[in-house]
Amino acid sequence: MRKKNDARGERGVTISEGVRSADPAEAAALYIELGWGTSARYSSMRMKKALEGCDVVISAHNSAGELVGLLRALTDSTLDTKVLDLVVAPEYQRQGIGVRMMDRLARHPRVRGTTVYFETERRNFGFAAKCGYAPRKGLTVFSAKNSVRSSKGARGKGSR
Ligand SMILES: CC(C)(COP(=O)(O)OP(=O)(O)OC[C@H]1O[C@@H](n2cnc3c(N)ncnc32)[C@H](O)[C@@H]1OP(=O)(O)O)[C@@H](O)C(=O)NCCC(=O)NCCS
Repeated sequence: MRKKNDARGERGVTISEGVRSADPAEAAALYIELGWGTSARYSSMRMKKALEGCDVVISAHNSAGELVGLLRALTDSTLDTKVLDLVVAPEYQRQGIGVRMMDRLARHPRVRGTTVYFETERRNFGFAAKCGYAPRKGLTVFSAKNSVRSSKGARGKGSR
């Protein structure tokens, strides 16, 4: 069980960056805790690959060194950056950690000067506004789960 936040509040939380700044097992547990999926989707191994595939990873740890926040992003370092997801552990929310992580992203050398896209649900619109983001008029997010297997995955299943 994670250490409860202490009297220092979000100041007791350290923000760091780098693909290896977040432990995959802890990250997977955080996503599952937030109800985003099961351990089948968010296994440690898949999360490790998902973190390694990101251009920018920013994490937040409490004073006990436990992961309490994670931001994953992709960037072309020139034009556009997309936040894939941002999560803060439930008992650490509304303490300014999300804003600190988004601020750290904006200052990242690969992200500076790019347009940053952040997709989120209506309930987080206040947070997005607080971070300085406005809805992009006329833009709706479409998604589809790609059913084409990766070549590695296909070989693993005995396909040609
Ligand atoms: C969205 C999320 C990342 C915000 O992180 P956070 O650390 O709780 O946010 P902060 O404490 O930095 O919030 C800063 C400000 O944003 C606004 N805000 C944050 N959460 C809000 C909410 N649920 N409703 C309204 N305003 C909100 C407030 O203005 C807040 O300042 P205040 O607490 O002084 O009023 C976090 O709630 C979370 O992980 N949610 C679940 C996962 C998710 O939906 N992720 C986003 C999409 S990828």
